[in-house]
Amino acid sequence: MLGLQWGDEGKGKLVDQLSKSYDVVARFQGGPNAGHTIYVNEKPFVLHQIPSGILHEGVENFIGNGVVIDPIVFSEEAGQLKRAGVLITERLRLSQGAMLILPTHRELDIQEERFRSGQDKIGSTLRGIGPCYQDKVGRRGLRLHEIHGAEFKNHYEKLRNYHLQILKDPSPEWKEEEERFFEGVEELRQYKMVEGQTYVQEKLKAQQSILAEGAQGTLLDVDHGTYPYVTSSSTQVGGVCTGLGLAPWHVGEIFGVTKAYCTRVGEGPFITQALPKEEHMIQERGEERGSTTGRLRRCGWIDLPALRYAVQLNGVTQLMLTKVDVLGGLDSVKVCVGYEIGGDQVKVFSPHLNMTEIRPLYDEEYAWEKLSREDRLSFEDFPIPLQKYIERIEKEVDVPVSRISYGVGREQVCLR
Ligand code: GDP
Ligand code: IMO
Ligand code: MG
Repeated sequence: MLGLQWGDEGKGKLVDQLSKSYDVVARFQGGPNAGHTIYVNEKPFVLHQIPSGILHEGVENFIGNGVVIDPIVFSEEAGQLKRAGVLITERLRLSQGAMLILPTHRELDIQEERFRSGQDKIGSTLRGIGPCYQDKVGRRGLRLHEIHGAEFKNHYEKLRNYHLQILKDPSPEWKEEEERFFEGVEELRQYKMVEGQTYVQEKLKAQQSILAEGAQGTLLDVDHGTYPYVTSSSTQVGGVCTGLGLAPWHVGEIFGVTKAYCTRVGEGPFITQALPKEEHMIQERGEERGSTTGRLRRCGWIDLPALRYAVQLNGVTQLMLTKVDVLGGLDSVKVCVGYEIGGDQVKVFSPHLNMTEIRPLYDEEYAWEKLSREDRLSFEDFPIPLQKYIERIEKEVDVPVSRISYGVGREQVCLR
């Protein structure tokens, strides 16, 4: 399940919904920069690191090699789930090769962002993600399996001291955070740790099904996103292979999730960002506030060339559309079909377009009334303009829309 925009497409809700049909739900990249929301009986669970299949009995959840784990956040999240009666220690498996985020990674993230000025700011979640992945490719990172080894403390201190040499003015809290880090490590020690690739291969050999849960979205991918305004991992389909340890031909259906409009948290180009009044309306109706940082999300209209780019890049076989209810009752819903750059019209999205001079080209506008909140509406229950809107998206990206979500509730979904 891959996000096709800049994250927050509603992956958590859909993964939770599909989990029952899978043996394993696996996260393959990212870390606590993610925030995946699942509503159960009107109560929200926000998961940052634990896969969104965790609420289902009989489903194994797996954190793969490509993930970065913050023990502090992990232990808070595990606490929240345990208090809700979720048998997390029984349901969760951790890959030995996942990386640990140290308190000083977070300090470095804050420092890196502070040193960037104006246009250079990324708008990071400041969860230490970038610095932790830098240490991974720099071949000095701390891997999860080390928490059971005799050298763990030594390696931790070596890496922390390396960070302290680079940090100019670390906040005094990192010392207290260090204590919480080791408490979090104690929590992590309670879970079954597996050799990641072997675990995945054995599941596949036993004909078990795996649902890979992406974090962030395609346009935040470190290679194919709107660089440098991206995250530090592979959010697109290739990340599944490296992050879990499996060959591409094991990847079957590729589910891509998109909102019926666009949002972006943090900095970077956003061609279809709406005018302030329209943006405010979408923010309010869609409750568009970051699940991790609480920041307001920038909002705008669906960008069909960008969606086509993400669909093609990932080889999406089924599209899932969320939040169509949010646009119900608006006077006009716009659809971006191309761009104008310096007098030229462009129909194809690329992260390398001249983003400073670009303007969106909108065509036909749609409008539909507020939707019923009933469970399991059928496609025919939707207002005709919404049906047309969905069919338009399908036609433009040439992939069928198989699920349409129209509310936060688990059953507010239309299957086609
Ligand atoms: P994720 O990061 O992709 O899992 O998405 P988030 O959980 O960060 O953000 C999606 C938000 O939209 C969450 O608060 C969901 O509860 C909510 N949501 C998901 N699907 C729908 C929908 O169809 N309609 C509405 N109104 N909200 C939705
Ligand atoms: P989910 O999984 C939305 C954004 C940040 C910032 C950029 C880099 O919930 O969809 P980072 O902390 O990774 O260095 O930030 O990426 N970002 C997200 N935006 N949803 C997310 O995750 C995100 N994770 C990171 O806002 O612009
Ligand atoms: Mg999110």
